[in-house]
Amino acid sequence: MKTYKAIQADLLENPQKWLVTGVAGFIGSNLLETLLQLDQEVVGLDNFSTGHPYNLDEVKSMVSSEKWQRFTFIEGDITDYETCMKASINIDYSLHQAALGSVPRSIENPIRTNESNITGFLNMLVAAKENRVKRFVYAASSSTYGDHEALPKVENTIGKPLSPYAVTKYVNELYADVFGRTYGTKSIGLRYFNVFGRRQDPNGAYAAVVPLWFGSLIKGKPAYINGDGKTSRDFCYIDNCVQANILAALAESEDAVNQVYNVAFGEQTTLTQLFYYIRERLLPNYPHISNTEPVYRDFRKGDVRHSLADISKIKKYLGYSPEYSVETGLDQASKWYMENM
Ligand SMILES: NC(=O)c1ccc[n+]([C@@H]2O[C@H](COP(=O)([O-])OP(=O)(O)OC[C@H]3O[C@@H](n4cnc5c(N)ncnc54)[C@H](O)[C@@H]3O)[C@@H](O)[C@H]2O)c1
Repeated sequence: MKTYKAIQADLLENPQKWLVTGVAGFIGSNLLETLLQLDQEVVGLDNFSTGHPYNLDEVKSMVSSEKWQRFTFIEGDITDYETCMKASINIDYSLHQAALGSVPRSIENPIRTNESNITGFLNMLVAAKENRVKRFVYAASSSTYGDHEALPKVENTIGKPLSPYAVTKYVNELYADVFGRTYGTKSIGLRYFNVFGRRQDPNGAYAAVVPLWFGSLIKGKPAYINGDGKTSRDFCYIDNCVQANILAALAESEDAVNQVYNVAFGEQTTLTQLFYYIRERLLPNYPHISNTEPVYRDFRKGDVRHSLADISKIKKYLGYSPEYSVETGLDQASKWYMENM
């Protein structure tokens, strides 16, 4: 099996055409950045519902103008089938990230979440099939483990979903599996576990915990912990997630395809620990937070208590080798939040 380094070298020699949906969002814009750095041709699709034009501007500022010219942006909605078809023409690899994230958002508005995450997903999958896209890699989610309490989480043992969001992400897996059996579509689902890093949005009611706390501490606002702080997550730095996508797109073994994989670092961090990791990294630049403590409040509906991934399957079949731990990832992320907030 080829290493990530060898695959990157191959791509540089023999550029491919990629579609990244959700390209103006956190994970999508990071995929775009890496693919352009590798001289790939990229089509991006986004409706700016939670993503931002300034994420694309930031990527533009990081790559040469020659590389940027290899990017074509389509502003559009994946709930529109024709838009998905247009975006998928002549694409080699589709990295489908567009969806409405957040458990609480899905509890407040399950219909909107369903439209983007299920109807939009199905449109993209059909468009990939019709356009004979070589591989359809999609953002699945650790929320699919639902109420199953066993740790670490192993791909073939899941529980009942705990939120409408989790239902949508599980339905994605079911559709991808059925399309593989029915039409021979080649897909790979990546169950992301709490990805964090540059360009993850710190603003809004549905911000994820890592950017939210960077934002709160930098602005001198309280950082809330939902529950007793012992809730744990397997936090995964964005560059590990980008690696997983590229490996999934290019995996050659038949056994590796039409599967789902955990994408994580494989380490459990409690929310209280996370708070102190973040505070420690900001402290040299923001001495006023030296005595800031987290504010504990009620548990939140739909949240799972503990999360930890078994990453042996993705290591074995895709050759995944995460380069950043939680702490080294937070070192990188803190630099970005300090420069950009
Ligand atoms: N960040 C995580 O920790 C995490 C964990 C598990 C799964 N995921 C999944 O990863 C994917 C990317 O998440 P993210 O963290 O980058 O979120 P994000 O909100 O930053 O990015 C999602 C992007 O999709 C776009 N989008 C949403 N609905 C759309 C629609 N109908 N048509 C076109 N574009 C649309 C948004 O505008 C945004 O740019 C999502 O599918 C999410 O469910 C993320």
